[in-house]
This record gives sequence, C-alpha cells and structure tokens, in this order.
Amino acid sequence: MSAFTRKDGELFAENVPAADIAREVGTPCFVYSLAELRARFRDYDAGFEGADHLVCYSVKANSNIAVLRALANEGSGFDVVSGGELKRVIAAGGDPSKVVFSGVGKQEWEIADALDAGILMFNVESPAELETINRVALERGARAPVALRVNPDVDAKTHPYISTGLKTSKFGIPIERCLEDYARASEMKGLEVVGADCHIGSQLTSSEPLVEAAGRMAALLRRLDERGIRPRYIDMGGGLGIVYDDEAPPTADEYAAKLVGALEGLDVTILVEPGRSIVGNAGILLTSVLYHKGNNEKNFIVVDAAMNDLPRPSLYSAFHRIEAADDTRDTVVADVVGPVCETGDFLAKEREVPAVAPGGLLAVMSAGAYAFAMASNYNSRPRAAEVLVDGENFYTIRRRETLDDLIGPESIPDVLES
Ligand code: LLP
Repeated sequence: MSAFTRKDGELFAENVPAADIAREVGTPCFVYSLAELRARFRDYDAGFEGADHLVCYSVKANSNIAVLRALANEGSGFDVVSGGELKRVIAAGGDPSKVVFSGVGKQEWEIADALDAGILMFNVESPAELETINRVALERGARAPVALRVNPDVDAKTHPYISTGLKTSKFGIPIERCLEDYARASEMKGLEVVGADCHIGSQLTSSEPLVEAAGRMAALLRRLDERGIRPRYIDMGGGLGIVYDDEAPPTADEYAAKLVGALEGLDVTILVEPGRSIVGNAGILLTSVLYHKGNNEKNFIVVDAAMNDLPRPSLYSAFHRIEAADDTRDTVVADVVGPVCETGDFLAKEREVPAVAPGGLLAVMSAGAYAFAMASNYNSRPRAAEVLVDGENFYTIRRRETLDDLIGPESIPDVLES
C-alpha cells in the first residue's frame, strides 16, 4: 500500500491533504511519509529473518537528518560516502558502530574522522587507498577495520550511469586480482580485514544480477578461507529498484530471501546498503503551476520546481509520474518544465498530464530518493523545503532556503572595494 492515496479525488500524504501542506509550507516542497519509510525498512529486516544481518541505509539517497533518525530508530545501520554523510548520521543519533564507509576517493581527514567515530568498516576501493588508511590508522595508534570492494564483473542491466559492477567501471578492485590485495591488507599492521563488499548498480529491476554477484562473492570467500583470510561481513551493496512507471522489481523481502539462499553455508553477517528502495516511493515533490504556454509545435506547463530540485529527468531521462493534487480529470500532452534557463530543464516530456491551471498543484511522484539529495542552487534558486508526514501530522524537517542563505558563504575581497 502506498502512503500517497486519493480520497474523493484529492491527493493525500498519509492522512494529510497534499494541498494543506503546500498551503502552509509553500512550493516546491518535498513530502515524505514516515509510515512508508518504516515499512520499507521493515521489509528488508523481515526478509533476512533468521540470518545474521545488518541493513545499512545508503545515506546518499536522502540524507535529511530526520529521515536518518527515523531509520536509526528502526535499528538501521548506514552506508556513507563522505565525512559530510558521517556527520549527518552522528547528528541524527545513528550508531557509528553500524556505519560502513564506501567511495573511491576517501580523504585523510574523512578516514581520521571515521576512525575516531569507531565505524564498522571501510569499504576500500583500491590498493592505494589501503596504504592511506593503514598510514592514517597507524598515526592514530588504531587498527582500521576494512573490507575490499570487489568488482564482480556482473552486468546489472540498468542505466549506464548507475551501473557500477562492470570491468570498465571506476569502482572496486577486479575480482581476479583482489586475492593479492587481500593478502597485502592482512599483513598491514594498521588494518584488520573484516569484510568483503560489492555493489553492482542501482535501480535493478530483477534480482538475478544481484544473486549472480552474491554467488561470485561466496566463491571468493571460499578461496580466501583457503588462504586463512576469513572476513566476517559480506556487504552486497544496494541497488534494488522501485516502481516509477511500469517496472516490476522484486520486493525487498523477496530479494533478501534470495540473497540469504545464495550465501548459504558461509559463516558471515550479511550487510546490504539499500537507498532508493527504502526512500524512493516514500516521497513526492509538490510544485505549483505558474503558466501554460504553447507554440505551434508543443504545449508547456511551467511549474515552480526545476532541474535544480529534481535533476533525475534531465540527467538520466528518468521517468517520474506527474499527478494533480486535486481531482482534475482533463489532460493535455505537454512538457512539464521549470524556470531554469536550460532546454534540459524538464520534469516530463511529451507526456499526457493533468491539465491543472496556473495556481494549481502538481505532484511529482517517487521523489524520495536522489532528488533533494542531488538538488543544487543553480540559477540562484533557494532549495526546496522538506516535510515529514506522520498520520494526521506533518513537520517541516528542512526549511526552505532563503535568499540570504544563497550568498551567506560568499564575500567580496578588499581589492574590489572602490
Ligand atoms: N552502495 C553503494 C556503494 C552505492 O554506490 C549506492 C548507490 C548504494 C549503495 C545505494 O544504491 P540504491 O539502493 O539506492 O540503488 N543518482 C542516481 C543513483 C546513483 C546511485 C549511486 N550509488 C539516480 O538518481 O538514479
């Protein structure tokens, strides 16, 4: 069941009319459902029942600290890729001992902060990074828990920009050469080898490639075991897709059960790093219609949200359903575009959408993941507000940015004073 439903034709977020939120908070504004967040997290947990596991929500998908707190309250761990994300997890009350740190370009200060915080493990992406983590750990008299991020060379069959498990990708260490790197890591005094990690891509609509990757990782663990290296965590990354349009991805509990099957017989704790499949359909973007305009070729509906608020359509030609917040039935074939001065600024193209008049409200669906988190201030547009709904109540969890916020960090040097 979705958290976004209709009552007498009117769009609700849980038990709150979307129009009420827009009236109070203004638009553009992201609206998240607490019930949906919790339900999606619990699906994962239920799917792994009986197996040692830790679900590490991938912070990059939606990093609002209230979202992180909601998941921390459920017992979630976290997958972070920067010192900034780690800061957010700690500010949200997340448990650092349930944090994994991924990413190809960890900097020394980020490694030091993560060591001081006492994270669960670093997912290491290259032999050079092993050296750096070893050195930073030794300088602090610490031993850094590490996993190697292995590139299992599996085709995730998703958008090329979000596919990461192929040989040509910048991510991970090729599976055929990682035995050598494991051997080196296990000899470094500042490191403790605790895990093996992979992540093959995002918005995967079949569990097949994920299960294939799990099989390859299981084979790797057996070969490591023969060499006396026994990681106790296997991190299978994130990647499970969601329904934006007519996709039919497996549910989290189905996927989890398959992973448990593929890793059967290994004495390990299973980690996963889902992002989109937890928050993606827990969020929508509310936007007001500003103008209708047309030329001989096309109709345009100009709205107050733009590519800076939701970059996915412009970046990946991604599809997001667009609905009226009220019961408008008439439709029009149009491009739904924002105010940003780029032809690439669109939320929908040549789409049959509700013919909502200027002043009316549209909802861009499935906007909980990689939406606000990827938003920018391009065209000096303040970033949107974020709201969390819980039953009949809603709370602003990020106020709309002000014009002063935009120029706050900037300054004019004396040399320019005339
Ligand atoms: N773990 C690692 C190492 C990752 O790189 C990612 C996503 C995840 C976990 C979470 O994946 P998820 O469960 O959300 O699929 N901006 C793109 C998606 C980029 C994904 C990057 N990595 C989009 O809007 O589709």
